[in-house]
Amino acid sequence: MPDNPIYILAIESSCDDTGASVLANDKILSNVVAKQEIHEEYGGVIPELASRAHQVNIVPTVDIALKKAGINKSQLSAIAFTQGPGLMGSLLVGSSFAKSMALGLNIPLISVHHMHAHILAHFIDKGQEKPTFPFIGVTISGGHTQILQVNSFFDMEVLGETTDDAVGEAYDKTAKLLGFPYPGGPLIDKYAQQGNPKAFPFTKPKVEGLNFSFSGLKTQIMYFLQKESKSNPAFIKDNIADICASIQHTIVEILMDKIGKAVNQTGIKQIAIGGGVSANSGIRKALKDTEIIKKWKVYIPKFEYTTDNAAMIGIVGYYKFLEGNFADTTVVSKPRIEI
Ligand code: KG4
Ligand code: ZN
Repeated sequence: MPDNPIYILAIESSCDDTGASVLANDKILSNVVAKQEIHEEYGGVIPELASRAHQVNIVPTVDIALKKAGINKSQLSAIAFTQGPGLMGSLLVGSSFAKSMALGLNIPLISVHHMHAHILAHFIDKGQEKPTFPFIGVTISGGHTQILQVNSFFDMEVLGETTDDAVGEAYDKTAKLLGFPYPGGPLIDKYAQQGNPKAFPFTKPKVEGLNFSFSGLKTQIMYFLQKESKSNPAFIKDNIADICASIQHTIVEILMDKIGKAVNQTGIKQIAIGGGVSANSGIRKALKDTEIIKKWKVYIPKFEYTTDNAAMIGIVGYYKFLEGNFADTTVVSKPRIEI
């Protein structure tokens, strides 16, 4: 570590997790996430409850992040925060906090695009190989499904994205139909590993180009379960592993089809994925297999840097700091922003 590293405090509050992280240059000193369990009983994130919980969590989360990092606030070089996209009420808590703290400490403020952060999480220094430009970035989570061509740190082009539900939403909504608690994606993944992926064939949506659509799949699965449960009320229980394996197989094929098209279209064979769904065993295996079969190079971040977290906001903050790309205090939160 150089003598005078840049210390950045980063704040993430775009959805239901309150995150705070401290970085010394591109190294993570702490990465704290306060989860909001309140949403579990509602089967999805309730925006009003999320913003209220951020208000409760933000101060202690930042405090713990600074203590864990062993850094005093007077040592901070800048404060980075998520500007958007995300839930307005949630974003506002993080941005207001970051602005006030930056003003109080008289240090620069850095606004960060949440999707840049999911991609640039691959540049957190963990002593591991990092992707080189250009590469294909794939963000798959409860809130996003995008394929991007990443030309440099801040030059990214969206090649395709979902036209309705995100892939994590498809997992969670389907999981709800199966009676799993929210978020049910990891449970579908767990049962899928014991089942037959070809037991129940589902039709894949036909969507132009590199875009996705998942809402039709969810409806198809709903009708299928209703029909089968009429003749056998215990159908779901009796076939849970095969149902999960079939759903997972379909979703993984949809993702892999489009990633394959992106590779063919661009000629780029480096793939870097991000977002909570990148923890999925099916997508990990399918991608890793391409390293042997198709000679792709696949980058999958550590789980703590791939779900919503502040360390990824901090790494973008670091690269923006190097460019002198600061925000002034009139910067506003944006639920939707172009990449
Ligand atoms: O990135 P993330 O923590 O938050 C955002 O949505 O931005 O992603 C959470 C999503 C949820 O939809 C969850 O069900 C899904 O990631 N997920 C999974 C797995 N682990 C998390 N989906 C499928 N298989 C998994 N193993
Ligand atoms: Zn996210």
